[in-house]
Amino acid sequence: MADFMIAPSILAADFAKIGEECANVLASGTDMIHFDVMDNHYVPNLTIGPLVCEALRQYGITAPIDVHLMVSPVDRIVGDFAAAGASYITFHPEASEHIDRTLQLIKSEGCQAGLVFNPATPLSYLDYVMDKIDMVLLMSVNPGFGGQSFIPSALDKLKQVREMIDAAGRDIRLEIDGGVKVENIGEIAAAGADTFVSGSGIFGKGDANDPHRYDTIVGQMREKLAAAC
Ligand code: DX5
Ligand code: ZN
Repeated sequence: MADFMIAPSILAADFAKIGEECANVLASGTDMIHFDVMDNHYVPNLTIGPLVCEALRQYGITAPIDVHLMVSPVDRIVGDFAAAGASYITFHPEASEHIDRTLQLIKSEGCQAGLVFNPATPLSYLDYVMDKIDMVLLMSVNPGFGGQSFIPSALDKLKQVREMIDAAGRDIRLEIDGGVKVENIGEIAAAGADTFVSGSGIFGKGDANDPHRYDTIVGQMREKLAAAC
């Protein structure tokens, strides 16, 4: 079976108890925390920065933290996230003046590096960097907000990137972000994704006072993934 990872996006969590939310969703069988950084410049929304990432580490979150930078410029903030405990740092190539330099910077800080593609961003940005990345993140919504509907053309794009990764023969994760739910996660896995961001598809489910509130929804996702391969 493929090495599937579920990465809950804390954009949809209760920010008043973010540490507890992360601990609960990980205890329910998810694999890493997806951390959406928005700057009210590259995207029209403002979220969380390195201080919150560091606070999660201090709270005791040891799972990988998958920092998705929706910011421009990119480079200035990379070191701060590395110091705050980021595991993966991904960025949108059109938001960086020097893509190769930004990838090198992330790696030199000891993090895994990846590129993020909006629904209409061409895959040609991958042409000269397949040997330098650890993750490709395909957006299946336009970035900036949670709770949007999955854009179906992302399935074809996933298939294309899966072929590129297999041809490269490198250990590169293929992550999908936006509108991922129990209802479509199987189809998305079949198209080639191995890492699944889900915000509104997970957070808010179940009884708010139950620490096991996410067991059911995560279990349902795991069942769909098991059936997809
Ligand atoms: C959107 C973010 C996503 C978002 C996904 O810009 O990158 O990670 O939180 O949320 P859902 O799963 O609700 O579409
Ligand atoms: Zn994201």
